[in-house]
Amino acid sequence: MGERAAVLVTGGTGRLGRHAVDSLRSRGHDVRVLSRRPGDDHVVGDLATGEGLAAALDGVDTVVHLATSRSKDIGQTRNLLDAMAGSGSKSPAHLIFISIVGVDRIPYGYYRDKVSSEQAIEASGVPHTIIRVTQFHGFVHEVLEAQRRLPVTLVLPVSAQTIHMPEVAERLADLVDAGPSGRVADLGGPEQLTLREYAQQWQAARGVKRPIWALHLPGKAIAAFAAGHHMSGLPGAGTVTYREFLVEGATNEP
Ligand SMILES: NC(=O)c1ccc[n+]([C@@H]2O[C@H](COP(=O)([O-])OP(=O)(O)OC[C@H]3O[C@@H](n4cnc5c(N)ncnc54)[C@H](OP(=O)(O)O)[C@@H]3O)[C@@H](O)[C@H]2O)c1
Repeated sequence: MGERAAVLVTGGTGRLGRHAVDSLRSRGHDVRVLSRRPGDDHVVGDLATGEGLAAALDGVDTVVHLATSRSKDIGQTRNLLDAMAGSGSKSPAHLIFISIVGVDRIPYGYYRDKVSSEQAIEASGVPHTIIRVTQFHGFVHEVLEAQRRLPVTLVLPVSAQTIHMPEVAERLADLVDAGPSGRVADLGGPEQLTLREYAQQWQAARGVKRPIWALHLPGKAIAAFAAGHHMSGLPGAGTVTYREFLVEGATNEP
């Protein structure tokens, strides 16, 4: 492929979505953003009710599905699939879905829901691509920033392999150009660090020095994170480290 495509980005107003829209536009694609709120270049629609989806999908070649309600997303994915499958005589667009590394090995509600979405997409007959990605630098960063007024920094005793969102966005744009590819290789960041090491780098960038306390929590999900099932293995395809993100990118990502 690689020609100019009409692309609908669900979640295009979100953290990752904004980068995805930029990457796709820089490649010359005609990008529409699905949002529940009106705005410049937004197509208004609600994945939870299905309202507005048919109009949003009209004439679209590819859907990049990044929207999340951070809880039960399977209903939203089903509504999107129904709208895509019901798009008249035209064959359905290519659906690209972002999932998370380890969703099938970590017993955590949000992850089980991701697995349900993956399975619904695979069973739908809609041409698709599914990519699982490790946590974003911005995600770990937000958790640390939320503690900026605390006298200590709390971390789980686990590691992570975070990735820079613009690199995820570029990979998504590659997948648009590649066409339906099924489940593709997991995408991970360039290094694996303990959360204590993330906290140390964050404190150094913030110019603070506080005790870092390990938060030991029980449960199978925590044990699965401790076993590293959420990491893609090294070398990851991402190149920008968390330290570089702190220097260059932290102000651009919430
Ligand atoms: N955080 C991580 O480390 C990580 C790692 C791997 C994969 N992911 C995945 O990456 C994706 C993007 O995450 P993010 O953190 O960038 O998301 P986010 O910032 O929380 O954005 C959520 C987006 O979903 C849209 N949305 C929510 N409910 C909707 C509905 N009913 N109808 C239409 N749109 C709706 C919102 O649009 P409006 O508010 O404009 O309607 C918003 O643009 C998610 O699927 C997430 O699971 C995240």
